[in-house]
Amino acid sequence: MTTVNTEKLSSARFAEATDAFVEEFTASVTFDRRMARQDIQGSLAHAAMLCKIGILTQQELADIQRGLAQIGGEIERGEFVWSIKQEDVHMNIEARLTDLIGIAGKKLHTGRSRNDQVATDIRLYLRDDIATILAQIERLQIALLDKAEQEADTIMPGFTHLQVAQPVTFGHHLMAWFEMLSRDKERFQDCVKRINVMPLGAAALAGTSYPIDRFMTAELLGFSRPSNNSLDSVSDRDFAIEFAAAGSLLMMHLSRFSEELVLWASAQFDFIDIPDAFCTGSSIMPQKKNPDVPELVRGKSGRVTGHLMSLLMLMKSQPLAYNKDNQEDKEPLFDTADTLINCLRAFADMMPHVKAKRRNMYESAKRGFATATDLADYLVRKGMAFRDAHEVVGLAVRLGLESGRDLSELSLDELRAFSSAVSEDVFDILKLEGSVAARNHIGGTAPEQVRKAIAAGRAQIGG
Ligand code: ARG
Repeated sequence: MTTVNTEKLSSARFAEATDAFVEEFTASVTFDRRMARQDIQGSLAHAAMLCKIGILTQQELADIQRGLAQIGGEIERGEFVWSIKQEDVHMNIEARLTDLIGIAGKKLHTGRSRNDQVATDIRLYLRDDIATILAQIERLQIALLDKAEQEADTIMPGFTHLQVAQPVTFGHHLMAWFEMLSRDKERFQDCVKRINVMPLGAAALAGTSYPIDRFMTAELLGFSRPSNNSLDSVSDRDFAIEFAAAGSLLMMHLSRFSEELVLWASAQFDFIDIPDAFCTGSSIMPQKKNPDVPELVRGKSGRVTGHLMSLLMLMKSQPLAYNKDNQEDKEPLFDTADTLINCLRAFADMMPHVKAKRRNMYESAKRGFATATDLADYLVRKGMAFRDAHEVVGLAVRLGLESGRDLSELSLDELRAFSSAVSEDVFDILKLEGSVAARNHIGGTAPEQVRKAIAAGRAQIGG
């Protein structure tokens, strides 16, 4: 019987040892050890299936289960000794298993390859992280619903081109963010459908000659089904790209919320107060309170989109089936997941404590002639053509600008000088409250509609 050198992988074929630098260069254990839990989970299911088809005895299965449980404990307690010599998480765990239980450990890899093993591990890993991401999105959504409820009647300027356009309610603005997050959630839920397909059984690329039961393994791991094609299973990472794409869109949304919070917290807008716990001071300027959390989240959106680009370029032009290139998928994926979870957490923690400065929001809407469109609509109701009304209101706004007054502060006579259609009731619509209340249809900014949107939002997430 030949003895096998377990020092190095597949070493029997090699006459020379691997170059020390190459060993380090090609190893992935420094980062893929994060998938240890999923690797053990996958091995337990594979072993149970091997036992059912008669490749492992009950005793061998029991030994494997005991060994893997011990390894799981060692990893959790930080006692496990990871070795670059064993290249990756898979080989490290398998080598330790063999140390612990002997021959049964060497049988675990029957009918399996690291190629289908790693594809399985990443899918399990992403599935777990998506569950966390979805929970964090919902936490943030609940914070937005609660805040929107408090601010359903709060009037602020709505902007287009970052110029005051029409008054809106702050609650309505917050519910716009809520909507964006609902779509983000749907994208992740959709992505999980394609992640949740099991590669195990594809082995290296062509499948295996053992009479494996892929349905059993899939069921044990909670996958919806085994994959259809072995070559495809070990090679494609499109699901990872989808995950990064959904993540990039989510971060794009968070970057927009961030930008608004940063602007609103400035002395120039002064619409909100971000609590001290989410800000930092300056080392030189004693007066500064910087909105670091939203700034950092805005900045982190760049790295996530960068990861999406990395993954797309990683897969571009790769021939079937597995190539070592694919080892490069882990770091961008892990960092994407970490960044999403942390940014969502920071936002969900911060949002309940962001205070609206209602007076300032109101005054700002007033200064910006936000009810000009309402005056035009009023004139149209009195029989004027919209284009003519647009012209008349432009003249009224100019008078307001020249005399430093809002439209609601012009006298009835002054307004009548522009059009005799104007009468006393014009002041109802020139008031900001009248303007928002008038937009009382589904999707509109009226407080009544905001409350309906909040109720629908709560029903949607069960919060
Ligand atoms: N560490 C590898 C990866 O992340 C595992 C698969 C290696 N397979 C192989 N045939 N070298 O992709």
